[in-house]
Amino acid sequence: MLDLFSEEAPWLEPLAEGAAILRRRARDEAAALLALVDDIAAQNPFHHRITPGGHRMSVAMTNCGDFGWSTDARGYQYSEYDSVSGQRWPAMPDRFHQLAVACAEEAGFPHFQPDACLINRYAPEAKLSLHQDKDEQDMRQPIVSVSLGLPAVFQFGGFERGDAVQRVLLEHGDVVVWGGPSRLRYHGILPLKAGSHPATGAFRYNLTFRRAFR
Ligand code: SIN
Ligand code: FE2
Repeated sequence: MLDLFSEEAPWLEPLAEGAAILRRRARDEAAALLALVDDIAAQNPFHHRITPGGHRMSVAMTNCGDFGWSTDARGYQYSEYDSVSGQRWPAMPDRFHQLAVACAEEAGFPHFQPDACLINRYAPEAKLSLHQDKDEQDMRQPIVSVSLGLPAVFQFGGFERGDAVQRVLLEHGDVVVWGGPSRLRYHGILPLKAGSHPATGAFRYNLTFRRAFR
């Protein structure tokens, strides 16, 4: 099918002070990013982790970088080793690092130094309940989140779980950056609607870049 919009340059859509969506920012390099996700998953497969409360997460996860985020009976933490495989996380590809740093800068955070990248895989009905990203040491560093594949509804709220939320559709290649006064806003993903995407089939992937340690 002829896509009349494929030549469209990325554009910035403000969400709140310190938060913006860089629409389509990663679309041109999405295939390369997904190939790297496959490489990482070949080394450290996606896994449904168990929360401290004993729930199996609907989102399957792996990580790359010096540190990876995971959850198990002990709690939520960043670590150099995967507690499931016992292995170190695969290195963060240069391409991932460069994209995250560039996106942070474009959204107003010129000194982002990510040391962790959580990779989430959503199948139909998978969701991420409202939460804050608060396991990192340095809250001056933003979060950079890259969406690939099937679209999903992102909820972006306030500083209390019950605050009103904005709901925005994140599509293939969209990048969300939040930091500064928005760093601790609640956010989440509504249950994924089934579909088929030319680049990812039945899945949505999300790369979330963070600075875990100072
Ligand atoms: C996250 O909050 O870690 C991921 C959000 C997303 O999948 O877009
Ligand atoms: Fe998050």
